[in-house]
Amino acid sequence: MGKSEDQFVMDNYKSVVKEKYNSSQRDIYADRYSFVNTCGFYGYNQLLKCFYETFNVIRKRGDNVAQFNFLDVGCGHGTWTEFYASITDDSAKVYGVDLSAERLAIAKKRNPGMDYQVKDMVKDDLSYAKANFISALTVFMFLKEENEIHEALKNIHHSLQSGGYFLWVDAYHASRFNSKAYAAGFTLSEMLEFAQENGFKPIYKKKMYKLLLGRYHTLFLREKLPNWLVGLVEKIIPSPPGNIFVLFQKK
Ligand SMILES: C[S@@+](CC[C@H](N)C(=O)[O-])C[C@H]1O[C@@H](n2cnc3c(N)ncnc32)[C@H](O)[C@@H]1O
Repeated sequence: MGKSEDQFVMDNYKSVVKEKYNSSQRDIYADRYSFVNTCGFYGYNQLLKCFYETFNVIRKRGDNVAQFNFLDVGCGHGTWTEFYASITDDSAKVYGVDLSAERLAIAKKRNPGMDYQVKDMVKDDLSYAKANFISALTVFMFLKEENEIHEALKNIHHSLQSGGYFLWVDAYHASRFNSKAYAAGFTLSEMLEFAQENGFKPIYKKKMYKLLLGRYHTLFLREKLPNWLVGLVEKIIPSPPGNIFVLFQKK
């Protein structure tokens, strides 16, 4: 039996990844985040809406996303690299890196023409992708130490083309640095401070979902409660967000 999500403690990111993503097989019915399951379906749709808004922010700034090189850091089994290929119409302009060779094996099977490499965003140079857009969706939350967060941001900044964009999506957590949970996210101010310190300016931000009473994430509540009820709760109950989506530009 594998560990449930909250049984992982805030261990070194390498050992968490090794333990959590140790299989190159995926059972879509068991995977909470696959499209056949509630969280996967709603989560993907929420993110698509944010991407739509993000790409239009970029378009208004005079940049054409169809001409970008995309790099997805911590790409897992390749969901967002696949999506980026639908934007560029050219999978040769899409790159994915992940610390887990097992997850990349699935991504490679799904998208054989794409460039997937085992890399650590904290330590490995990513500039070979010549990316205009780098994303990291729920990846920074694996980093335990502040210096690792700075190193990864510096690395992403260095690897981006001039004027390039960095999309940082993470779980929200009120006090990440006092938490034992591996999946402790960030507050919006923490994300802004870290990114600004490392040469990025924020140009679009969105709070997603709600975290009720500090523990009930409304994406996951959809597994148990009717959608209309969760939707209503999200609208009327003031609470911090469940996730944060911020688009930065390289200064
Ligand atoms: C929660 S999953 C998210 C996967 C994907 N971004 C998505 O949204 O579907 C986090 C991924 O980050 C990867 N990861 C964690 N730390 C990493 C690091 N230092 N460098 C590269 N990948 C990392 C994990 O192996 C895992 O595949």
